[in-house]
Amino acid sequence: MRKKQVYIETYGCQMNVADSEVVLSILGDNGYAIAQEAGAADLILVNTCSVRDNAEQRVHQRISTLKNYKRQNPGVLIGVLGCMAERLRTELIDKGNVVDLVVGPDEYRKLPGLVEHAINGERGIAVKLSRVENYDDIMPLRTDGVCAWLSVMRGCDKFCTFCVVPFTRGRERSRSLHSVVEEVERLSDRGFKEITLLGQNVNSYHDGEFDFADLIQAVARVDSSLRIRFMTPHPQDMSEKLIHAIADNDNVCKSVHLPVQSGSDRILSLMNRTYTTERYIRLVEKIRKNIPDVSLSTDIIAGFPTETSEDHEKTLDLIRHIGYDGAFTFKYSPRENTKAWEMGDDVPEELKIDRLNEIIELQQTISFQKNESLVGTVVEVLVERESAKSSADWMGRMDSNKVVIFPKSTAGAGDFVPVKIERCNSATLFGVVADEPAALREYRIAVNN
Ligand code: SAH
Ligand code: SF4
Ligand code: F3S
Repeated sequence: MRKKQVYIETYGCQMNVADSEVVLSILGDNGYAIAQEAGAADLILVNTCSVRDNAEQRVHQRISTLKNYKRQNPGVLIGVLGCMAERLRTELIDKGNVVDLVVGPDEYRKLPGLVEHAINGERGIAVKLSRVENYDDIMPLRTDGVCAWLSVMRGCDKFCTFCVVPFTRGRERSRSLHSVVEEVERLSDRGFKEITLLGQNVNSYHDGEFDFADLIQAVARVDSSLRIRFMTPHPQDMSEKLIHAIADNDNVCKSVHLPVQSGSDRILSLMNRTYTTERYIRLVEKIRKNIPDVSLSTDIIAGFPTETSEDHEKTLDLIRHIGYDGAFTFKYSPRENTKAWEMGDDVPEELKIDRLNEIIELQQTISFQKNESLVGTVVEVLVERESAKSSADWMGRMDSNKVVIFPKSTAGAGDFVPVKIERCNSATLFGVVADEPAALREYRIAVNN
């Protein structure tokens, strides 16, 4: 008998990517095969994001185009998963005859049962949040590759006033250190070369016995040739112990993504970020002192309620002062039911756009300067895949997470290659495989300096 086929499309953050792998594993155990395109599937799932309004609008548009698959084949079932499922619930089902299933992030174990019911014409919804669900015992269904993402904790208890995540993902809970280490061992055996530990607040990880610094130490020891990254830490939980765990292990990447959100203390307080700029700067100094070549990136929101041009200037000053390697920048998007929603959305759209553009321009200048300083040096690159722009080139990343493009050589995906950087823009470095013995020499000199 032909196996039923499931097709899944994922929006939003890496946690959703990891969750989709859990969903495929659950459905795989229940007789489903994976379809590579929606047209071939009996069950189409969309794993969604609610973080900003434009993320939701994209998904609404996509759901309305999925109607066509139902027209072609009325037996096709369509399910909405993830944060929009949690936030909008029955609203998604009520909106036209497209969606059959709505399943929130903590209810994926119910999917096979809900699908059975839906086959019999019963639309299903499961959106309860759990204090314990962490899918600890489910081995996510991953395709072999170079990089793997592994969620180690779920939920968020920080309640930044602009953010929906605490409402869509529920309370914080962590997997056991033991189960994470076991999964990393299996990934290493399968040939993965880089593991990113994931959590909305990854460094508030605590399994009752071990904290995130313990976890980093334990994971780093599994295989010294395995690169370890983590996403996303919160400044409040960036302990000295964790900084040392990063510094002490060669295979833990020397790159920290440390969202600051704003450079104004007044706005930070309205955001409930729990730190002042002064404390944040001291933290960065501590990180840089202990991890000398660390690369730092951040998230910034432009146009939070009541943000004045002075507040905005302070954000620009902070960006200049820290000198980030990169930043993800967002226009404030009011989210219903959050505290900030009640503060109004008083920064006019054009002003938000102007401020956002100013931030982007400044950061691009800084990123370019940082990248330029690497021109002429030899860096170690982990090759990930063919470059999206040219089949003659490889794309890989440095330890610092910077993207490097270079002409293909005998090396392939999964290899660590010394690359001599020849030119750059603000986002990407371009180079050539360095003549090996000389390159290794140069590389060693660079490392020893
Ligand atoms: N837990 C992580 C990531 C949360 S979402 C963290 O604390 O960093 C990723 C980023 O989206 C946030 O850092 C923030 O910069 C941005 N973001 C979240 N809610 C937003 C909103 N309502 N409007 C604009 N940007 C938002
Ligand atoms: Fe959202 Fe703040 Fe939690 Fe990050 S720490 S997920 S921004 S509430
Ligand atoms: Fe989006 Fe949910 Fe992730 S809101 S950013 S998919 S946790």
